[in-house]
Amino acid sequence: MKKVLIVFGTRPEAIKMAPVVKELQKKTKLWKTEVCLTGQHRQMLDQVMEFFEIEADYDLNVMKSNQSLYELSANILVGMKEVLEQSKPDLVLVHGDTTTSTMAALAAFYFGAKVGHVEAGLRTFDKSAPFPEEMNRVLTGRLTDYHFAPTDRAAQNLNEEKVSPEAILITGNTVIDALLFSVEKVRAKKSQRAAEIEKLVNFSKPLILVTGHRRENFGEGFLNICRALLNISRKADVEIVYPVHLNPNVQKPVNELLAGQAGIHLIEPLDYETFVWLLDQCYLVVTDSGGVQEEAPSLGKPVLVMRDKTERPEAVEAGTVILVGTDPQKIETETLRLIEDKAWYEKMSHLHNPYGDGKAAGRISAFLEKKWAVDVQYETM
Ligand code: UD1
Ligand code: UDP
Repeated sequence: MKKVLIVFGTRPEAIKMAPVVKELQKKTKLWKTEVCLTGQHRQMLDQVMEFFEIEADYDLNVMKSNQSLYELSANILVGMKEVLEQSKPDLVLVHGDTTTSTMAALAAFYFGAKVGHVEAGLRTFDKSAPFPEEMNRVLTGRLTDYHFAPTDRAAQNLNEEKVSPEAILITGNTVIDALLFSVEKVRAKKSQRAAEIEKLVNFSKPLILVTGHRRENFGEGFLNICRALLNISRKADVEIVYPVHLNPNVQKPVNELLAGQAGIHLIEPLDYETFVWLLDQCYLVVTDSGGVQEEAPSLGKPVLVMRDKTERPEAVEAGTVILVGTDPQKIETETLRLIEDKAWYEKMSHLHNPYGDGKAAGRISAFLEKKWAVDVQYETM
């Protein structure tokens, strides 16, 4: 029987791989599915595992506080050797653009397993932004045998890199599978954490949901983001809710500049269920996150993206996302415009779903079933 090893290690990979794990686990007669966590994140990863009720078969547990990319990369690569030798997978599935995905793909290549890349083909064509994710994607793409591209644009990027068309499948983004599953759940029943937030925040005012963690924004970028949020909270009658990423390079400036400021609520990273609930409740989103700029348009929320470049141009072109970089004036002006100009808000908040229809994981599973049909027939004879 075939074996698929699904490897992930950070919060967004876990959210986006959860639907794939669930879907592949259904096909017990076709292949065995195993899950390996690198533990690149710990608390933020464990929250997701709990919500989606996924058990790991292996856990490298590599997270150390504020560790360098060198150490993280080396620890994942070395740790994967033992896992691969024990699991002996035919296929290793990785996701997106993290150090986990690139190192796991490299390890799979050394081991001789095939590599499947979920969320393949995203590009900014600038290796410094986002850093190091753009280069991680390019490297992972070169190691990949099966490319699961979320959009036509992503597939086109791969075509231009001369990837064979038979190796590419356009699937939609699995984040929409996860979102649709979760939003239905939270609309039916609020989490306990959501009930706590309801007591903390004045929901009669427009709620601005903020997230941020990009490495290229560390230092001056984050100081500028905080200055902009302070100005917005002083000029507009709004509530700002900011679940602060656990990276110490984010925690330090955000807490130093924003803790205790009126109208600004700094809270711990939310479990996925509660984050989706808040996304559904909010007025607008200010973020540098990849995943959040895919989810928000599906819930009809305008997004201001604190980056100069995005590998996700589809929602920018559709007019539901605006790139504002980390210029405090631009962040402030665009936020205030969305609060004061109702017609503009209406224009930007139309529901738009360029990233998927919630069926991406099923397409990945069907692709593998077809790919392996001959082998499976032979093995079960
Ligand atoms: C990582 C990914 C980034 C992804 C982001 C999602 C890389 C290089 N970066 O960035 O692509 O967009 O995750 O959030 O792969 N920490 C904790 N607990 C946690 C998570 C992080 O304490 O649950 C702290 C630790 O001190 C850790 C630090 O954050 O060392 C940085 O984590 P790391 O995974 O290296 O980088 P992120 O900024 O989280
Ligand atoms: N998210 C979450 N709790 C939070 C903030 C974000 O569950 O407090 C989810 C969000 O819904 C999205 C993902 O985490 O699916 C995005 O993760 P992040 O911004 O850390 O990484 P990126 O997508 O930029 O790689």
